[in-house]
Formats: sequence, C-alpha cells, structure tokens
Amino acid sequence: MGSVHLQPLKAGCSDQRVEIEWSDGSHSRFDCLWLRDNCRCDDCGDPAIGYRRLRLTAIDPDCKPRALDSSASGLNITWNDGHRSFYPSDWLRQHSYDYDSRAARVFKPVPWDSALRAAPPEFDYADVDGNERGLFEVLQRVRDHGLCFIANAPREPGIAEAMASRFGFPQESNFGRVQDLVFDPGKRSIANDVEALKPHTDEPYRASPPGLLLFHCVSNDQSGAGASLFMDGFELAERLRGEDPEGFEALCRNPQRFRRHFENEVDLIAEFPILSVDEFGNLCGIRLNDRVAAPLAIPSQQLRVFYRGLRRLLEFAEDETLMHRRILEPGDIAIFDNHRILHGRSDLTINGRRWLQWIQIERGDFYSSLRILADRLGLERNADPLLRGAYG
Ligand SMILES: [Fe+2]
Ligand SMILES: [Zn+2]
Repeated sequence: MGSVHLQPLKAGCSDQRVEIEWSDGSHSRFDCLWLRDNCRCDDCGDPAIGYRRLRLTAIDPDCKPRALDSSASGLNITWNDGHRSFYPSDWLRQHSYDYDSRAARVFKPVPWDSALRAAPPEFDYADVDGNERGLFEVLQRVRDHGLCFIANAPREPGIAEAMASRFGFPQESNFGRVQDLVFDPGKRSIANDVEALKPHTDEPYRASPPGLLLFHCVSNDQSGAGASLFMDGFELAERLRGEDPEGFEALCRNPQRFRRHFENEVDLIAEFPILSVDEFGNLCGIRLNDRVAAPLAIPSQQLRVFYRGLRRLLEFAEDETLMHRRILEPGDIAIFDNHRILHGRSDLTINGRRWLQWIQIERGDFYSSLRILADRLGLERNADPLLRGAYG
C-alpha cells in the first residue's frame, strides 16, 4: 500500500473481470459487478459523504464494459447500458480486494512486551487539556497499545465526563452514564468488594460490551492498597497460541455463554467466542471474565480442548509478571480498550476512600474521532485499520 502515485499501464476485460497492470508491474483484478456497484459518479451517489443512490437491485448482474481505457489518473469505463464511470488510480489501489491487499490493510495488533508493560504510554493532562494534537496522540496510543494514561488532571468529579466527551458520547447503561465507583455499603456495587479483582474484561454478557473505558481517580486509599492492574489480553492470547494452537483455536471457534442477572432489573445473556480473530488470524477482540461465565453449550468433542485453552488463558491472566500494576493517584486518568485490555485491582482496605468515575465510549465513535482529529490537524489519517472488537 502507500504507493500512492502508481498509474495503470493497461486495462482489459475478460471473464467479467477487469484486469489492470500498474506502472510497477503489479496487477489488480476487479469484478465488473463490483466496479459497476462502486461507480463514483454524481448520479450513483456522493462518495464524499458515504451516500449511495445506486441500488444493487438496479444493476444488471451481467454488466460489462462496452469501452474501457486507462489514463494516468485512472480507469474510464463506458458500460453496455451506456452509463459512464471513472475510477481514480489511488482509489482503486486503496480498495483492491485481493487477499494480499486485504491482509496488508487490516489492523495487526502488536502485543505488549516487557518495556511497554513497565512503562505504558502516559501524557500530562496539561498537554491534552484543550489541545487537539495531545488528544490525538493519546487516542493513537489507545489504538496501538490498548491503553494510555493521563496524569495530573484536576482531582474533582466531572473530569472523566469532560475528557470522554472529547472523543465520543458517554454511553448510558443500567449502571448509569457516569459510574461512581466508591465504597458505599448501602449500594450493590463491585466497588464494595474489598477482595482482589482478577484481571478481566467488562460486561462480556452484552451483545456489545463497553468499547473504550475511561476512568478518573478522584481520590484514593491513603494506605496505598487497591492498585490497578492492566494486562494485554492479546499478549496472553498469543502466548496461548504459541503453546497450544488447538486450545487457542477452540476459544476462537466455540462460543462462551455469559450471563448477568439482577432480579427484576436486567437479565443479560450473550454468547460469543472468548477470542475473536479476523480471516487472517489477527486477534481483534477478547471477552474474558469467568465470574460471569454461564454453562458452556458447545460440541462435546470440543469441550476438553476448550477447557484446556481457557484454563491456560486464565493462568496467564493471573501471572503477575504479565501485569502492569499502578497505584492510581488522584488526578490519574486511564483510557483503555475493553475488547483488548484486561483490568483488575489488588485488594482494598475496608475503609477505603477510593473514588473512581467510570465512563464507557462506543468504539465506532472512538475511531471516528481519530479520523476527524487527523483531518483537522492535517495529519495522515492512518486510522482506518481498526480493531473490530470481540464480536466473534
Ligand atoms: Fe471491571
Ligand atoms: Zn454512476
């Protein structure tokens, strides 16, 4: 990719496919139906806003070029029904759909290594507050590593919502819009649990689990208890793949059922694989939270290997050498991808003064903000490969 200035040397059509030879000697093939369907003329739609006027049902499935010619700028086609289309060279290159082109375009996550674990990306609030470039860099780190910290924010409630609103819309759920995690014996909350919380992803029992999570530490436990833990779920998954490819495969192929039931309020059930991979085998999501796992219902011949893979993955998730451990300071913000990063905490003292504000942002809004910020800053977007999420 990236070779933006290639030109088509020749173009020809056979077997309902247009073949283009590029100036670097490479070839691309486009099906006639695909080309007709993606006509970029004003009658067929407005590609600039992503709007299509042309209906697939209005296209002749056997459409063919009556005339075809290539110029330095692209490909001209006059169709057998007289309709005329023009496809710019760069656009054709960017949308080539052969295996290698698709494989080159997808997001290839780089698992954490020990250097990243020791010092995950961190910015100072002063460099992000009111600064679009700073915000863009934070979001890029979240995209690339799943996690980014912002330190030295004001120590007051409301900061989380103000920060989250800069790259999405806080999502409301049965827990509310802004969740206050604070020790309060009068409320049913995980914040009251003083035991350690093993690293996990949040709410896998939802059809769409929270995408990005942002939390802000308003105050913390003076005793120093209650460190936050973060792990790269993809690093754990890659370790499993290296050790036990069959166990890995079983977790990609079979669904795990998850459930959260609060009587007379919600009964959320979802069934998705614990590991999601794309067609090239790249990881694109993880749902790992055995506290809310429901009974498995998978083919019996898969059961043993599934359990073997899951047990090993959970062992990795308990391995302290794979965790980033951080005692949050008041004013610390963490932003992370809940479809990649596991979070947890070590135990709290019962009189903890720990107060966190949590917000969730939909992943589509997060990626949209990355693209729009890049446009506004005049930077290359570089945000199109995206992590699809834990959707199987
Ligand atoms: Fe959680
Ligand atoms: Zn058209």
